[in-house]
Amino acid sequence: MKRLDGKTALITGAARGIGKAFAEAYVREGATVAIADINFDGAEATAKEIGDKAYAVHLDVTKQESIDAAIRTVEEKTGGLDILINNAALFDLAPIVEITRESYDRLFSINVAGTLFTMQAAARSMIARGKGGRIINMASQAGRRGEALVAVYCATKAAVISLTQSAGLDLIRHGINVNAISPGVVDGEHWDGVDALFARHEGLKPGEKKKQVAAAVPYGRMGTAEDLTGMAVFLASSEAEYIVAQTYNVDGGNWMS
Ligand SMILES: NC(=O)c1ccc[n+]([C@@H]2O[C@H](COP(=O)([O-])OP(=O)(O)OC[C@H]3O[C@@H](n4cnc5c(N)ncnc54)[C@H](O)[C@@H]3O)[C@@H](O)[C@H]2O)c1
Repeated sequence: MKRLDGKTALITGAARGIGKAFAEAYVREGATVAIADINFDGAEATAKEIGDKAYAVHLDVTKQESIDAAIRTVEEKTGGLDILINNAALFDLAPIVEITRESYDRLFSINVAGTLFTMQAAARSMIARGKGGRIINMASQAGRRGEALVAVYCATKAAVISLTQSAGLDLIRHGINVNAISPGVVDGEHWDGVDALFARHEGLKPGEKKKQVAAAVPYGRMGTAEDLTGMAVFLASSEAEYIVAQTYNVDGGNWMS
């Protein structure tokens, strides 16, 4: 018996990176997974790679009709939604005096409003079905404290931690457990972009910022997407039944709370 046998999941931003690793792990544990991403071609390629228990869904978490359509697709395909992972997010970097409204609006609309309204649509579907469910939000160590050049992204992830607490307390009476995972620095395409932004703003050579952050991790290296999958499976499994409104650090020891 696998830990997620017979469960259905929707993972936002799962075409690549951490969301893709979560989808692979969930399918290994017996779940059927909707790879929901604004990059539909990427989502299709990922679903094909994972096999017939994964399928691609187009989703833009900034558009209510897109969120509703994605949840409807899961209901129609698999009879109902058991697990949502709110994983889609964007990063940006700028000193306070250079932050633009456009960057602020884009990050808040994906990372915060996207998380809230996808969580709301999933919760409505789970409540109507009456079987409870699990919602996992992707926070970040960036949400635990501010960083000089990362004000907006840090604020969005602090908001995700707060939303996880409020939604967790509200939805547990419907048998829906809401929790979050807080990664540290996870290597992959996302961090290639972060490294390039730091190189521009701090005058570093490409790859230099990655070396710096890796050296600062108590475990001794950057994380991999695979490092996070154990927590994502655990929080969706029956073993996590009594866990409510928490944010778990999975970051090689970077943060303690
Ligand atoms: N990589 C890290 O070091 C790190 C650290 C802490 C937290 N996180 C968080 O983990 C999560 C996954 O990070 P990642 O490194 O895999 O990122 P990533 O950039 O590799 O993947 C993000 C995915 O989200 C999709 N996406 C973007 N906008 C979207 C939208 N409007 N609607 C639907 N999908 C959209 C992208 O197409 C992409 O596939 C994010 O929430 C991120 O903030 C990452």
